[in-house]
Amino acid sequence: MDPVVATCTSWLLDPWWGEVLGEGSNIVRFQRRFSLVGRGVPGEGDVFRFVFGMPEVDVAAVPRGTRLERAVVERLESGGVLWVRTGWVRLG
Ligand SMILES: CC(C)(COP(=O)(O)OP(=O)(O)OC[C@H]1O[C@@H](n2cnc3c(N)ncnc32)[C@H](O)[C@@H]1OP(=O)(O)O)[C@@H](O)C(=O)NCCC(=O)NCCS
Repeated sequence: MDPVVATCTSWLLDPWWGEVLGEGSNIVRFQRRFSLVGRGVPGEGDVFRFVFGMPEVDVAAVPRGTRLERAVVERLESGGVLWVRTGWVRLG
């Protein structure tokens, strides 16, 4: 029988979250299930849409209440990039 896999393309799969959120993070636990493919594409727009509900990237306007929010601000203010990555996971 052919293996069944699922794919995901998301800002949630940027391995950098592992560095800033660490053990205990649901995002990190989720992303570790996936094998990444490709190099990804810049993901600032997706992070602002999904995390902050903002249609445009506007670092000065975002809340800094959670570790993730603060990490986004620090990353972008230091000239870093957020990535959207694609990965796959075998189901069953
Ligand atoms: C996916 C999701 C449920 C994960 O949230 P979670 O279970 O809290 O994730 P973690 O356990 O990894 O959270 C680690 C830290 O990041 C923060 N965080 C996670 N997602 C956040 C979000 N969307 N906005 C603000 N902060 C967030 C948490 O509050 C926590 O910080 P804290 O310890 O200072 O409170 C959440 O990010 C979410 O609802 N996202 C919107 C939907 C989305 O992006 N879907 C994918 C589209 S491609």
